[in-house]
Amino acid sequence: MRRNFLSATDYNKEEILHLFSLAERLKRMVKKGEFPHILKNHVAALVFEKPSLRTRVTFETAMYHLGGNSIFLSQENIGVGKREAVKDIARNLSRWVNIIIARTFSHRTVENLAEFGTVPVINALSDLEHPCQTYGDYFTIYEMGKLNSNTTLAYIGDGNNVCHSLLLTGAILGINVVISTPEDFKPEEEIWEKAINISKNSGAKIEWTPSPQEAVENADFIYTDVWASMGQEHEAEMRRKVFMPYQVNRELLNHVKKGDFKIMHCLPAHRGEEITDEVIDGPHSIVIEQAENRLHIQKAIILNLLKPDAMV
Ligand code: CP
Ligand code: NVA
Repeated sequence: MRRNFLSATDYNKEEILHLFSLAERLKRMVKKGEFPHILKNHVAALVFEKPSLRTRVTFETAMYHLGGNSIFLSQENIGVGKREAVKDIARNLSRWVNIIIARTFSHRTVENLAEFGTVPVINALSDLEHPCQTYGDYFTIYEMGKLNSNTTLAYIGDGNNVCHSLLLTGAILGINVVISTPEDFKPEEEIWEKAINISKNSGAKIEWTPSPQEAVENADFIYTDVWASMGQEHEAEMRRKVFMPYQVNRELLNHVKKGDFKIMHCLPAHRGEEITDEVIDGPHSIVIEQAENRLHIQKAIILNLLKPDAMV
């Protein structure tokens, strides 16, 4: 049966752990210069309505390493919903390529690509979720031996797409997630309720506080993201004022009780806004490890969608 990866909730805990172990093996292979050409003659279409460095390069490199190829289609090229209806794009691409990887504004657009397409669709970031990012992030935590019920991740800043997927993935995996946002920028209610429901099974503690100081107190991982996401640039000035008390800086880190905490960011960072230079470049920062792991986890996801029996 065709499977898509549109939301962090599309895989259960056991499946995510399987992806992590596959990503671990794929990572070791890259380090040894071994590239299993499992996807020879396979092509990925990358439909991107928004800019990207990490996601584009890691998906294209993943396809190349696996012996396949990719075609990058920017919004200027194909005009999703403008030059052509989403359903027509989905039906056409499905006759030519093996997988569609989409970065969109509306989450409905990735859902429609999956609804009308006949090949697997991966959400490479929508306004609602960024599941490839957070699977890579929890894979980074897993590699550090910290994927257990004593671990707490504190997310500080805007209740956005990355925050949503961090909440959902953490809830599935049984990791405690404490969110600190201004009152008016909490995660969406629907996502919050979903995370709370999932956490009842996994035992994860899911909490929100307006106080970033309180959120970081018992944190092992402190995560932040831009205050104005792609598409919200016109709100950047207003947001800078509201979010300033949520900056991840040295003063905030004085409130962390654990000595070996780590700093996370999905990148790109707006240095001097949500995070200071000294923190992102400091000894606790693991942002480049996170970025590297996008390659390995996405390779595992692509393989799982296209060749689930390979490398099991
Ligand atoms: N973190 C992330 O998705 O980065 P890009 O926007 O550069 O792809
Ligand atoms: N929240 C950010 C994440 C970028 C990877 C955005 O949507 O722009």
